[in-house]
Amino acid sequence: MSWLKECTLNWFQSLALRIIKTGEVPKHVAFIMDGNRRYANKQNLQKGEGHSKGFDKMTEMLNWCMDLGVVEVTVYAFSIENFKRSKEEVDGLMDLARQKFKRLLEEKEKLMDVGVCIRVIGNLSLIPEDLCKLVAEAMTITRENNKAFLNLAFAYTSRDEITHAIKDIIQGVKDADILPEDINEDLITDCLYTYKSPNPDLLIRTSGETRLSDFLMWQISNTCIYFTEVLWPEFNIWNFLSAIFYYQKCYPNLQKNRNNLKPIMHNSRVSMYLDKLHNKRDMAIETIYLSAVQS
Ligand code: FPP
Ligand code: MG
Repeated sequence: MSWLKECTLNWFQSLALRIIKTGEVPKHVAFIMDGNRRYANKQNLQKGEGHSKGFDKMTEMLNWCMDLGVVEVTVYAFSIENFKRSKEEVDGLMDLARQKFKRLLEEKEKLMDVGVCIRVIGNLSLIPEDLCKLVAEAMTITRENNKAFLNLAFAYTSRDEITHAIKDIIQGVKDADILPEDINEDLITDCLYTYKSPNPDLLIRTSGETRLSDFLMWQISNTCIYFTEVLWPEFNIWNFLSAIFYYQKCYPNLQKNRNNLKPIMHNSRVSMYLDKLHNKRDMAIETIYLSAVQS
């Protein structure tokens, strides 16, 4: 299954989408794509097939987002907690990711034409080396694209993300790049895996679970959260448009809170430290990519 498909909406669905588009459209939408195994169970499929259907749904959803004008999407593809599942299921999910990243790299021309930037956010040291190389290649070649952004949270939890940010900040203080009094919420925000992205405007969780499962906990304090009973592989355009409509109803209140937010301004010492940290992270990804190309 391709990552970028032609639009499959019928005229009535397209019309509904165009009507919703006349209202406020979220720029950044995050998804907790839950319910793949329950779907598999319901359809007498193997768990792996449920995840595979989940991936297909994700590509469909990316098309709806692009049609609607959502610029950035962040999906919870694999949590660090998911490593506790059976070896068979974890291996199956890693294989699915391998297969899909290979496919993504095969269709890179299409990705470059559309201008999609792929970012994998998470603790890459936890994923198999060969998969990490594919991820690094996808991130490096699409780095400059800026028409649409897809952030795949893989081997991710917020607690791990915040722990890493704190470790980087401590190292910055030890190296005398920053001072203890430079530590504030803005600095932490810019040390997270998500430092390149604005906070999500809307978070959608499927499958009837009303938990956040350690996803983007720092980033969603002023995000509209939409829970739906639908299992992820069954999520359809009407469910998506209902979520957007819910966002449009919440928008005036969200806006009131946002008006109090000032843009982040760092002092020059902190700005230099952040440039160094972000360059170091980009270089680490590029080094993995170059080692893969050379081998
Ligand atoms: C949650 O359903 C879903 C996951 C743990 C995996 C989601 C992954 C994808 C949809 C595709 C990932 C994309 C790539 C690039 C590999 P669940 O397993 O918790 O199902 P349940 O809630 O019914 O038990
Ligand atoms: Mg689940």
